Amino acid sequence: MSPRPAALVDRIVKRPAELSPAPHLLDYDATCSAFSWAQAAAWLDGLPGGGGLNIAHEAVDRHLLHGLGAKTAIRWLGKTGERREMSYAELARATNRFANALAGLGVRPGERVFVLMGRLPELYVAVLGALKARCVATPLFSAFGPEPIATRAEMGDARVLVTTSELYRRKVQGLRSRLPGLRHVIVVGDAGSDEPDVHRWNSLLDSATDEYTIGPTGAEDLALLHFTSGTTGRPKGAMHVHGAAVAHMATARYALDLHEDDVFWCTSDPGWITGTSYGIIAPLCSGVTNVVVEAEFDAQAWYSVLEHERISVWYTAPTAIRMMMKLGAQALRGRDLSALRFMASVGEPLNPEGVIWGLQAFGMPFHDNWWQTETGGIMIANFLALDIKPGSMGKPLPGITAAIVRRGETGGVHVIDAPMVDGELALKTPWPSMMRGYLNEDERYRKCFVGEWYLTGDLARRDAEGYYWFVGRGDDVIKSAGHLIGPFEVESALMEHPAVAEAGVIGKPDPIVGEVVKAFVALKSGYEPGESLRRELLGHARKRLGAAVAPKEIDFRANLPKTRSGKIMRRLLKARELGLPEGDLSTLESDEK
Ligand code: WT7
Repeated sequence: MSPRPAALVDRIVKRPAELSPAPHLLDYDATCSAFSWAQAAAWLDGLPGGGGLNIAHEAVDRHLLHGLGAKTAIRWLGKTGERREMSYAELARATNRFANALAGLGVRPGERVFVLMGRLPELYVAVLGALKARCVATPLFSAFGPEPIATRAEMGDARVLVTTSELYRRKVQGLRSRLPGLRHVIVVGDAGSDEPDVHRWNSLLDSATDEYTIGPTGAEDLALLHFTSGTTGRPKGAMHVHGAAVAHMATARYALDLHEDDVFWCTSDPGWITGTSYGIIAPLCSGVTNVVVEAEFDAQAWYSVLEHERISVWYTAPTAIRMMMKLGAQALRGRDLSALRFMASVGEPLNPEGVIWGLQAFGMPFHDNWWQTETGGIMIANFLALDIKPGSMGKPLPGITAAIVRRGETGGVHVIDAPMVDGELALKTPWPSMMRGYLNEDERYRKCFVGEWYLTGDLARRDAEGYYWFVGRGDDVIKSAGHLIGPFEVESALMEHPAVAEAGVIGKPDPIVGEVVKAFVALKSGYEPGESLRRELLGHARKRLGAAVAPKEIDFRANLPKTRSGKIMRRLLKARELGLPEGDLSTLESDEK
């Protein structure tokens, strides 16, 4: 069942005058030239009495002052059919209770609150409540195995962990000795542990009061820590500040065209930054109703959500779009999707076929946009009112200057003005949601910048009309189902197994999920390659790393190709796997053959 071949058009022409409500961004050039971040900051309120800027105030409390208290802020759809509506006023009270509970435990501003759970209402309360308490919030993906959880909690010096009793037992309890700084665990569900520092969410919140005044918060105060992966070493902790909300608000308007009456659904998990910036902050700052779906992807279930919740703006990802395409547009027949007016996609390249399939299946294209954990918010986008060139990521947001550059020999960058020339995508600093550093890794952070430019590490080109086209990543990091996976983290977990001498991990192209994680392993002497060892290694990696990160395929090799300095040449492994030219082999020292 292959998707119906879409007639590939090179341009989808928009008629913005016919759109209702009128798009926030109608005239791209005029909006860009009139735009300033100071003006965007005025779309937010600031804390009462000039107390500064706090994300949770902008996302929750201020709506009570504007008469939106009774409006549904979060509509939660549980896995087994439960529904829960939380109004802005209820969300304000619940987050107040959590902020009070943190204070009651002696947790101080600036300390880190990690949240490890599926998309439960408590996750949203915990993140926003932690922001009220001026703690730094770190949502972790609940499908991570113990190893990625421990690495991140260790690096981030987690003081508090909010999780479920089940996840605590399965993934965290055994690692407590690695986390001496972790003082409190708050579990949703029955405590299931008699450790004195493990508290029950319900008892803690029930005994806290629901009045709370957010203390003075500076726009430059740290708010969120999101981990992301690089080619080498441990994950990087990208640090974000409260002032980022200005960019979330601006992109909510311009890139997602959110209006207050919208019912919005971002399908991403808050364990990845899309699910925080656009699954929590941007929609709530905009005062919309934010739909949260606990269950994982299932095409028919998703179509039911779109129809029955009357979703008007939908933000999703290419892997899901390709899975829906595989099922075919007929699966949508009979659905009333009349509320839907805008669809956007992010996280990995969206093929032109996917953009156009949107037209066939939903009567509107998917609007691809681009950003990174480091940029905090959407930077390049296809806008509702602008023509789409399927396959292009669109144009820079108002307030953002992008360029295609080449790094010079002497350390500077050279901006490439000519259209359709490949180079590195660069963004001119600053903007409000830009990361303020990589946690404890100044050197790695500084390497991202040359002069006024932030270098994204992505390769791209710009056409004569100013549309940007993604070409590829400049590093070895793997994108699988939209999730960024560091090969080093996977290799390290494999190396823990007594049979493994060396491991090299690559992303192998896949028509649905973009790339699948594939490992090449050389065994220690005394071990023989074979099906049972392969299964054992796959199982070991899955147990340590979790299903979202573990390799799906393992091949055995006698040796892995290495450079003179002993680094495994993943690029060569990949070229050989794909039957591509092997490229420059001048640094190759030892080989697998
Ligand atoms: C990397 C960032 C998606 C934002 C949050 C996750 C790739 C992202 C696109 C796109 C092609 C894309 C890039 C980027 N990427 N959006 N529209 N087209 N590639 O951010 O996990 O830090 O990943 O995702 O390679 O650098 P992230």
